[in-house]
Amino acid sequence: MDIDFVRKQFPAFQEPSLQGQAFFENAGGSYPCGAVIDRLFRFYSRHKVQPYAPYAASRQAGAEMDEARSRLAAMLGVADRDVSFGPSTTQNTYVLAQAFRQFLKPGESIVVTNQDHEANSGPWRRLSDSGIEVREWTVDPATGHLDPAALESLLDESVRLVCFPHCSNVVGEINPVTEITALAHAAGAFVCVDGVSYAPHGLPNVGGLGPDIYLFSAYKTYGPHQGIMVINPSLAELLPNQGHVFNGGDLSKRFTPAGPDHAQVAACAGMVDYFEALADHHGADRMRGAEMGHFVHDLMRQREIGLLQPLLDAVKDRNDLRLLGPSTAEDRAPTVALALGRPAEPVAAQLAELGIMAGGGDFYAGRALSAMGIDPAEGVLRLSFTHYTSEDEVAKLIEALDRVV
Ligand SMILES: Cc1ncc(COP(=O)(O)O)c(C=O)c1O
Repeated sequence: MDIDFVRKQFPAFQEPSLQGQAFFENAGGSYPCGAVIDRLFRFYSRHKVQPYAPYAASRQAGAEMDEARSRLAAMLGVADRDVSFGPSTTQNTYVLAQAFRQFLKPGESIVVTNQDHEANSGPWRRLSDSGIEVREWTVDPATGHLDPAALESLLDESVRLVCFPHCSNVVGEINPVTEITALAHAAGAFVCVDGVSYAPHGLPNVGGLGPDIYLFSAYKTYGPHQGIMVINPSLAELLPNQGHVFNGGDLSKRFTPAGPDHAQVAACAGMVDYFEALADHHGADRMRGAEMGHFVHDLMRQREIGLLQPLLDAVKDRNDLRLLGPSTAEDRAPTVALALGRPAEPVAAQLAELGIMAGGGDFYAGRALSAMGIDPAEGVLRLSFTHYTSEDEVAKLIEALDRVV
């Protein structure tokens, strides 16, 4: 990967006030790419009007929103109507949980994990208020690993939905979505996957992976602050409409009762501009849609794996900290949480003085931390990067860590 080319696509790397600051809180939110910022600016300056009316500015606004949906859908390997934009993944799971609340019957069951971020956990667990049985698929306390065999023992004919993360935002291990989905489907359950922590490292081919619902947040995939969800149309049609009564026939509006942020939806096309530019620059200029998505996914993953292993090697055998999740880069995202046995936030503050931007806390994954014997109040130091991080920044991080830990 041509890292100079990559970094030129992100204005943050040219921003004087950010010079000398290595960014390691990407799991919280990535830098937006220039193409997204340009599209947002263009929308706000040229056609920030109600879209889909017959005048030119409005038609253009609507066309840019539609463009974002279709180009993203193509990359994700699904149909346009399968993609919905909502304010955030938290909001999207909340709305979906309300739909399932109406759809499920008392006595039916769902499975949630204690590896998830609260966004894909709490709203589902609250279905117990309506008589739904909530079963917990729990992590191995030593490793944070979610074992598919343990899911099997929770599945029976009463289970209608299984919710789990593609990758936890503190454990980092990549869960085998296709295998888990097959287990759930064989038991007659639907599947909802939180892809928020995985998607920044390469948008997956959701159609190929196979879950019924796949969620991610564009502000972590180089885009604007939007949640994106893919819902299989056969499930979307079964679930009761959560939008305005007259919007129920439009699957892309059925689970987004909030009016869309038109400019941000339109700006999501900038993410695809960026991914295409990456593909073009690396010799894949004939590829578009899912094929291009696959190429860029692998390009990013390969780069990140190469950057990540030295960091894992530097922390995995230390006895003054505990690395959560796998110590092999292939098996995880570059979202590296370290339990220090003391509050993590002050350590993040020390890192800031050394030019490292990182965070300390529970990252809304308190259930996963508690399950692993870590006090959420102490939290973990989390170091997260993406393909645009440089070798020098990782080396600087390793050196800074040595000084503060
Ligand atoms: C794994 C994971 N899931 C869900 C969310 C919630 O996403 P949003 O901020 O879009 O609600 C986050 C946010 O950090 C996350 O890391």
